[in-house]
Amino acid sequence: MLDFTAQEAAPETKYLRDYKIPDFTIETVDLNFDLHDNVTHVTSRMHIKRQGEKDAPLVLDGKDIKLISVILNNANAEYEVDDETLTIHNVPDEFDLMIVNDIDPASNTALEGLYVSNGMFCTQCEAQGFRRITYFIDRPDVMSKYRVRIEANNAKYPILLSNGNEIERGDAADGRHFVVWDDPFPKPSYLFALVGGRLGMVEDSFTTKSGMDVVLRIFAEEQDLDKCPHAMDSLIKSMKWDEDVYGLEYDLEIFNIVAVSHFNMGAMENKSLNIFNTKCVLAKAETATDTDFSFVEAVVAHEYFHNWTGNRVTCRDWFQLSLKEGLTVFRDHEFSSDMGSRAVCRINDVRTLRQHQFAEDSSPMAHPVRPEEYMEINNFYTMTVYEKGAEVIRMMHRILGPEKYRKAMDLYFERHDGQAVTCEDFVKAMEDGSGIDLSQFRLWYSQAGTPEVDVKSSFNNGKYTLTFSQKIPDTRGQTNKKPMHIPIELGLIDRYGNELLPNETILLDLKKSEQEFTFEGLEHKPIPSILRGFSAPIKLNTDLTRDEQIFLIGHDSDSFNRWEAAQEISTDIILKLVDDLDNGRELDLDYAFIDAIRLVLTDKSLDKAFIGEMLALPSEGVLGQKMDTINVDGIHEARKLVVAGLATALKDEMLAVYHECNTGESYEFTPEAVGRRRLKNMVLGYLMEIADTEIYQICKNQFYNANNMTDEISAFTFLVNSNSPDRDKAITNFYDKWHHDQLVLDKWFSAQAMSSREDVLDQIEKLNEHKDFDLKTPNRVRSLISVFCGLNQVRFHDKSGRGYEFLGKNIKALDPLNPQIAAGLAKQLTRWKSFDENRQNMMKKTLNDILAQDGLSKNVHEIVSKSLD
Ligand code: TRP
Ligand code: ZN
Repeated sequence: MLDFTAQEAAPETKYLRDYKIPDFTIETVDLNFDLHDNVTHVTSRMHIKRQGEKDAPLVLDGKDIKLISVILNNANAEYEVDDETLTIHNVPDEFDLMIVNDIDPASNTALEGLYVSNGMFCTQCEAQGFRRITYFIDRPDVMSKYRVRIEANNAKYPILLSNGNEIERGDAADGRHFVVWDDPFPKPSYLFALVGGRLGMVEDSFTTKSGMDVVLRIFAEEQDLDKCPHAMDSLIKSMKWDEDVYGLEYDLEIFNIVAVSHFNMGAMENKSLNIFNTKCVLAKAETATDTDFSFVEAVVAHEYFHNWTGNRVTCRDWFQLSLKEGLTVFRDHEFSSDMGSRAVCRINDVRTLRQHQFAEDSSPMAHPVRPEEYMEINNFYTMTVYEKGAEVIRMMHRILGPEKYRKAMDLYFERHDGQAVTCEDFVKAMEDGSGIDLSQFRLWYSQAGTPEVDVKSSFNNGKYTLTFSQKIPDTRGQTNKKPMHIPIELGLIDRYGNELLPNETILLDLKKSEQEFTFEGLEHKPIPSILRGFSAPIKLNTDLTRDEQIFLIGHDSDSFNRWEAAQEISTDIILKLVDDLDNGRELDLDYAFIDAIRLVLTDKSLDKAFIGEMLALPSEGVLGQKMDTINVDGIHEARKLVVAGLATALKDEMLAVYHECNTGESYEFTPEAVGRRRLKNMVLGYLMEIADTEIYQICKNQFYNANNMTDEISAFTFLVNSNSPDRDKAITNFYDKWHHDQLVLDKWFSAQAMSSREDVLDQIEKLNEHKDFDLKTPNRVRSLISVFCGLNQVRFHDKSGRGYEFLGKNIKALDPLNPQIAAGLAKQLTRWKSFDENRQNMMKKTLNDILAQDGLSKNVHEIVSKSLD
C-alpha cells in the first residue's frame, strides 16, 4: 500500500530497455456496444492464448471503467482490480474471457477512449485510449481480429460505424437499431474506432490497380458537407500516388473518414475508419485558406498512407513511434511536393523543423527520434518523433537513391507485413535491400540534439578544400556523443553561375568529427552551395562572404539554397541591428541585399510562391534561437525596422506586384493561384508596416471584398495588428460574419492573439473570458493560447510576466479536463534557460506554481518536472 502512494506522487518512468514480449495474446475480440446518452454498456468476448511464461497471471489494462462481471470459460472468474489493471491468476494456456463494463462517454473531456463531441459518439484510442473502453492488453504488439456490434437509438444515431466491413444491420427494441462490423485484418487496439451519430455523407469511389472497387465516404455534419470535396479529391490523389510511387494498394472495399469537432490532435488512422479533426478535413474557398487546403491535402494523405506504414506494419512498442510517424510524414511530404511546388514545400517543411523541432532539441524535453524513456507516452507525439523522424527517412532515401530505396521498402513490406516491429527492423531492411552500410547512420535514432557543422574553405593552386567539423550538443541525460553520418549535398558554382561538378551536385558522406573534401583542377575559387535541399537536419555555419551569399540568391540552381542564402543574410542584418540599437545606432540596410531582393521580386520567370518565400524573413522565434540570451524586444524591434526598410526601398515594386497578383479571379486551389495570393499578401504585409492612407485603403478593400479566406484573413490580420482607424470595426465585422463557423471563429481568435500591439495582453485576457472561448474544445484552446504563447514571442514574454501568468492559469484550469492538451501548453515554458534572469525567474515561478497543483496529471507533471530539474 505504501508503494502505491509513492507511485501516485511521482509517476513511474517506462524504459525501452525493459521491453518484454507480452505473456498473452488476444487472437479475437468480439465487442458489443450498447450506446445510451448517459451510459454505454460494453461487452467484450476475447479468445486469449498464453505465449510467455508458464505461470504468469493475466494482467489487463483499464482506466475509469465500471467493471460489472468477468467470466472465464463460462464460469465467474476470481480477479483483482486496481486503478490501472485487472489481474486474473491461474489462467489456462488458452481460454475465452468475457468482460462486461460500463463507461460514461458524455463526461469524458479528456477525449481519449469513447467520448461525445457535439452529440456524436466517437473514439480516440492511440496511444492508450482503448483501456478506457474495456479491459484489454492495450499495447501495439498484441494484434487481434475485431468484430463489433453497435446498438443505439435510431433517430439520434442513424450512422453507426466501426472498422472493416459491415456484415449485418437491423432493428432492435425501443426505437433502437444495430450494425455489425467485421475487420479481417488483425490490429492493435490503438487502431480500433467507433462512431455513432447523425451525420451527412459525401461518397465517391476508387478502383485500385488490381481492379478492386473501393467505396470512399466522408461523414460530417450536414452544414459542412459542401466543405468535403477537397478532402475527397485529396484522398483519391493519395491512393493513386501510393500505387504509383510505392506500389501500395488499398486492401478493403470501404474507406471512411469522419469529421469531429472535439479532437486532441490532427487526425487518426484507425483501420478503414479514419477520424479527423474538422480542421484537417473541411475546406472551401470562403472559409479555408490556401494553407488550410494544403494542410487538409497533407493530413488526408498522411492518414491514408498509414494504412501500410503503421497499420499493415505497426510498432512493437511506443518507443518505436517514429517507425510509423517519421516514415509517414516523409511520405506525405513527398506527396505534397509532387502535387504542388517541390521547392516551396521543402522551404515550409524546413521552416517548421527549425522553428519547432530545433527548439525542442535545445530544451529540457530534448529526446532522440527513438526515445528511451517516458512517463506519459502522449507527451512524445513530438516534432522530434514526427519531423526529425521524417528527416531521418529522407536522409536514407538520399543516401540509397530512389531505386535502392524503393527496393528496400519492398523488402520491408515483404518481411514485416502483419507484424509489429522496431526502427531497427526498418533500418535493417534498408541495409539489406540496398547493400549499403547504415551502422553509423543508426545514431540518428539514438542521439538527441541538433548536430552543428562548421565548414571552412580554402583554394590553392587549383585545389579547393572544404573542411567540415561536427559536434553534437549535450542534451538531458546524454553527453559525449559520437560523430554522426551526415549526408551533405554539395554543388560548386563558378562566377558565371555554371555548375562545376558532374551532374551538378554530389553527396558528401561526412562521418568523422573533422573531415576534408578536396576538388582539383579548378581555375578559380568556386562558390560552394552546401547542404542543398537541406539534405540533413543540422545547423550549418559556413565562411561564405556576404557577396557570395548574394551571388547564391541570384544563381544557385538549388532553390532551397537560394532561399537559405536570403535567410542567412536577413538573419545577419537583423541580429546586427539588435546590437546596433542597443548602442544607439540605426538601421543601415545593405544596398546589395536590397538589389538582390528587388531582382527576385521583379523576376517574371520565377514561381510567385517561391518569390513570396524569398521575401519571408525568419520569424522572431527562429532569430531568438541564434542568441545565447534571447533579446525578445530587440529582435521584435529590429525585425520590424528591417521590414519597414525593405518596404520603403521597394515600395513601388511591391505595389506593382500587389496589383499584378490581385487579379480578382474566382478561387482556385492551383499552385499558380496559390502563388499569386501568397506573394500578394506577403507584399501587403510589408507595405502595412509603412502604411499611409493609400495602403490602408488597399488592405481595407481586400478585407471587405475578398472572395476567399486567404485574402480575407490576411487583410484582417494586418488590420488587427495595425493602428488603422478601421481596426475595431473590422474585428466586429469579422465576428458578426463568421461566428457561426467554428473553424473560422478560431481564426478570429488567432489573428488577435498574433497581434504585436502593446495592448494585446489586455485583449487576450478578454478573449479568455469571451462567451465563445471554451477550454473543452482543443481547437479553440490552440487558436488563442497556443498561438499567443507559441508564436507571439515578444508579447508572451512581456517583461511584466503577465503572459506567463495567463498561461499558468489556463494550464491549471485545463489539466483536470484534458491533460493531453494541458501538457502541450506546458511545453511553452520549458525553454526558460534561454531568457534573461528576470524572465527566467518568472517562468520558473509559473512552473513551480503548476507543479504545486493538487492532483496534477502525469502528462503535465512530466513536462514541468523535467523542465525544472
Ligand atoms: N497517429 C496519429 C497521426 O496520424 C496521431 C495521434 C496520436 C493522435 N495520438 C492521437 C491523433 C490522439 C488524435 C488524438 O499522426
Ligand atoms: Zn501519423
